[in-house]
Amino acid sequence: MDPTTPTGLWEQVLAFDTAAPIEQARTLPASWYISDAFDALERRAVFLDTWQLACRAEQVAEPGSFVSGRSFGLPWVVVRGGDGVLRAFANTCRHKATEICTGSGVLSHFTCPYHGWTYRLDGSLRTAPRMAGIEALDRATMALPPLGVEIWGPLVLIHRDPEAPPSGPGIGELTRALEATGWDRLQWHSRRTYEVACNWKAYCDNYLDGGYHVAHMHPDLAAQLDLGRYRTEVFDTYSLQTCPPADEASAPEGRTPAGRTEGGALYVWRYPNLMLNRYGPCLDTNLVHPISADRCRVTFDFWFDASHLHDEAWIRASLESTEQTQREDMEISERVQAGMASGTWHSGPYAPRVELGIHHFHLLLARALRRATEPIDGTSAPGEPTP
Ligand SMILES: [Fe+2]
Repeated sequence: MDPTTPTGLWEQVLAFDTAAPIEQARTLPASWYISDAFDALERRAVFLDTWQLACRAEQVAEPGSFVSGRSFGLPWVVVRGGDGVLRAFANTCRHKATEICTGSGVLSHFTCPYHGWTYRLDGSLRTAPRMAGIEALDRATMALPPLGVEIWGPLVLIHRDPEAPPSGPGIGELTRALEATGWDRLQWHSRRTYEVACNWKAYCDNYLDGGYHVAHMHPDLAAQLDLGRYRTEVFDTYSLQTCPPADEASAPEGRTPAGRTEGGALYVWRYPNLMLNRYGPCLDTNLVHPISADRCRVTFDFWFDASHLHDEAWIRASLESTEQTQREDMEISERVQAGMASGTWHSGPYAPRVELGIHHFHLLLARALRRATEPIDGTSAPGEPTP
């Protein structure tokens, strides 16, 4: 099965049995974690076909404020118009495809740095200098291509498809659970970015193992949680892992700040690559972005309740604590990747009562890849309902 050919890729996609119950299922094959063909397929069929975290709502609250970036080959800009409407566009000039802006800021219109074309904040073309003599320059077709945009609590998400269904209705319970924690009252503090030598899925798998690895890999965190009461619940496009606090936190002094896990831990995973860790007065958002088949970038944004922001020592200790957990997770994810690339492992079993979140992730991913690679003659994949 050569994954670089369409037929080979389809066969590789079918190698994961989406019909098997977790007690009988095998995990995604190693090829999914090491193949450039899968990396390219996932960009198209998963990341450009899902809502993706772009920026914070407070960054684009004022008229004219914008944030730009690149996700999965797509340069984007989110901007609040003078009319108060939040919009997102492909950040590519209609002339030579140049990114018209970088970073973030406040402006009255966009000016492409290359040849000075300007665009209004609603994306329409404003001026195109020195274009006299051109025939049939239809300004109506020269607007920045719109993207989908939505606000979720304190976050802004974008979608490649401006007609994409809003994600809100499918995640109502999740949104209510986060609102109940007061997440929209938190204030952003800082960002840390890590590069990890593993496929993005290996990093997500580690997050979604139902706390299986916590006792082994995170002794400090394990000391704060009652791991015997760790629970995983799966929903259509997200999963929740919850764990109440231990009766007596016994982490080493100076390593784990009192209060970080106050009230226990809520770990949210949103398909395909967004995690939110909600502990007491803390929220970490954690976005995983593939760089290549065997490398990913993990971006943490740290938020805190305003009541804790003045306490610099507490914040520093909190960030050190999460840094420790992250180092442990990165190291083990890289060791998983080394094994997957070794040719000595094909796939493994799931722990049926624990690894529900990983199995759910693999099912969602496999279904998306099946839809994207299905032969156009309509051949149905084994185990999938025929339309
Ligand atoms: Fe971990």
